[in-house]
Amino acid sequence: MRILLINGPNLNTLGAREPEIYGTTTLPEIEQLVAKRAAGLGADVRSFQANGEGQIIDWLQREQADADGLIINAGALTHYGMALVDAISAASIPAVEVHISNVWKRERFRHRSLLSPVCSGTIVGLGVHGYELAVEAVVRIIKGTE
Ligand code: DQA
Repeated sequence: MRILLINGPNLNTLGAREPEIYGTTTLPEIEQLVAKRAAGLGADVRSFQANGEGQIIDWLQREQADADGLIINAGALTHYGMALVDAISAASIPAVEVHISNVWKRERFRHRSLLSPVCSGTIVGLGVHGYELAVEAVVRIIKGTE
């Protein structure tokens, strides 16, 4: 079982970026956390981060054929990345959307996710623990137990 983990724009700076909102865990630490949780459930993970929508789409198109599921925090692309929405939809693998912060408590533009309609579910506002919950969720979906 293979899971893809995608993090979008600005998430490469996690740890230093607005720690009062996003905490102090770095992206490599999150990727490790996800890989460890996935390994415990019999899955391996391929991780990718990019600041550009096109780079993310190129990577997803390359990887999707060998993947069973996707965990994605698209950062601000969540709110305006229509081409990314199309790419997720075309990938035809179950996707779980993650947001570290509680977007509902924040600015209005963060209340709309273009990604949610093409994802199986969304985990919001639980910090980096949300990524671990997403692993569990996507594995269950892949195995057809959810
Ligand atoms: C985010 C929320 C987005 O609104 C923001 O643009 C991000 C991070 C989150 O994880 O809380 O970059 O996706």
